[in-house]
Amino acid sequence: MNTSTNTSNRPPLLLIGAGGHAKVVLEEFKDAWDFQAVISDTSLSETQTAYFEAQGLEVLVESEELYNAFLAKNVTHAVIAVGDNEARQKIAEALLAAGFSFPNLIHPKALVASTAEISSVGVQILAGSHVGASASIGKHTIVNHHAIVEHDAVVGDAVHVAPHAVLLGGASLASGSLLGANATILPNVAVRANASIGAGGVVTKDIHTSGVYIGIPAIQVQS
Ligand SMILES: CC(C)(COP(=O)(O)OP(=O)(O)OC[C@H]1O[C@@H](n2cnc3c(N)ncnc32)[C@H](O)[C@@H]1OP(=O)(O)O)[C@@H](O)C(=O)NCCC(=O)NCCS
Repeated sequence: MNTSTNTSNRPPLLLIGAGGHAKVVLEEFKDAWDFQAVISDTSLSETQTAYFEAQGLEVLVESEELYNAFLAKNVTHAVIAVGDNEARQKIAEALLAAGFSFPNLIHPKALVASTAEISSVGVQILAGSHVGASASIGKHTIVNHHAIVEHDAVVGDAVHVAPHAVLLGGASLASGSLLGANATILPNVAVRANASIGAGGVVTKDIHTSGVYIGIPAIQVQS
């Protein structure tokens, strides 16, 4: 196990998760952060670990001892690079209790308005995205590539706004929700319950019930 002390100017960071979103986060933020290791919840095959190992990162299986070893070396920051909202939220609770904190990762090529209110806990805003004037973003939320959160839109905690998804002005999206790739919430329309909006869907009316919604206009297909 390599828990060696950080020697670069970049602050040390643990990468939690070893799937697709972890690759994205590593690629996007490796110039700004000194990634120490990849932490997975299960042991992975050689094929699954090859990508990270090729970039000089060990893939380790999570355990209390492992986390304590990093904390003892003053590696106290972690990014939860897991696209699934429920899983990300659960990991966040466990790692917070263990003593980690979660810096925001905001790509320099994202355009975030000075009046946007961004939680200071574990927000990931990826390249090409836009968060507009007076919009707000909750903790542990991902705003993925080229997503747009327009002015006055409200995004809850542990939400995933997928690539190219759009919340138009004043729209809102409840905590735990997924706005799928290329999906849109029309202006001032509110998704008030934890919902998954399928890729390409258009939410035209307020949603009050949890479930999966697809199509144009988006209709509920699963509870
Ligand atoms: C809507 C969604 C959540 C449903 O997932 P699921 O419950 O696993 O559904 P399935 O893949 O089993 O598909 C069920 C049916 O819905 C259809 N369907 C799935 N997604 C759809 C979508 N976005 N729009 C229209 N129809 C869709 C499927 O074709 C299938 O139809 P069938 O029963 O006639 O064959 C998912 O398909 C989706 O769009 N997710 C967004 C993913 C995304 O953007 N992720 C970002 C990560 S970076």
